[in-house]
Amino acid sequence: MSNKPHRDTIFVEEAEILTHEAYQGDQFILRLLAPQCAAQAKPGSFAHIQCAPLKPLRRPISIMRVSVDLGWVDFLYKAVGKGTRLLSQRKLGETISIMGPIGKPFELHAERPRPLLIGGGVGMPPVLFVAESLSENPDYKPFVILGSEVPFPFKPIPSKILIPGIPDGIIASMPLLDDWEIPSRLATLQGFAGCYEGYVTDLARQWLNALDDESLHQVEIFSCGPHPMLETVASLAAEYNLPCQISLEEFMACGVGGCAGCVVEVETKSGLAMKRVCVDGPVFDAKQVFPS
Ligand code: FES
Repeated sequence: MSNKPHRDTIFVEEAEILTHEAYQGDQFILRLLAPQCAAQAKPGSFAHIQCAPLKPLRRPISIMRVSVDLGWVDFLYKAVGKGTRLLSQRKLGETISIMGPIGKPFELHAERPRPLLIGGGVGMPPVLFVAESLSENPDYKPFVILGSEVPFPFKPIPSKILIPGIPDGIIASMPLLDDWEIPSRLATLQGFAGCYEGYVTDLARQWLNALDDESLHQVEIFSCGPHPMLETVASLAAEYNLPCQISLEEFMACGVGGCAGCVVEVETKSGLAMKRVCVDGPVFDAKQVFPS
């Protein structure tokens, strides 16, 4: 029963590579023509991508942006293993088999109109997808914090948007987010110009501390990134008594719920249970994954 809702919405497409750009730190942004995936994807969805024609194993990669009208899907990934290194060699005009969109997406709540979106490294895409989905929705006032220890896969700009609680001089933001008029700031330990020198969660704490009580009660945290970062995000949410959804990254084989290769232990109402990240997640309530 649990994965039935996904069955009519996962498509296999031979997707043409429209753009494939390399950034420092072995990061790549890949745009594929995959109209069915684009039409059904939601913030938090991922696609299972065949990295090379003769390599049957796929890699799960989070969706960063889609254009339903033009039918493209953007992915940010890091070439870290054999599969993603092969993927990084694929050229414009070639086709790639993709299966998607897959997974339970983030869920927004109208009574929490101040989403705090925290993305670290290649965990940035799902939170950017949430941000873009809210860019024309005046009911929500998101704030985005992105962290990276390698140069960001975009050229940071000084933001035009002032944000209460953010220390003076912390002005670097992501150009796309500024274009969408969504406030954002960047954090790193590498001393990049205009960025907060510290962890994303420390910057988040400064923003939370500047909110009045009413605004604080309107915050919900959405996050994706390395496991230790998510654990710190979960404990920050617990400290401020805020709901928090996190998207997990896990090794996957089948990607559609059949092999149990991606199970994690989570807390449920009836005790500890094993859940499949691919179809029961990748988005989980942070308290389920990191019970305090
Ligand atoms: Fe096979 Fe999740 S990858 S069940």
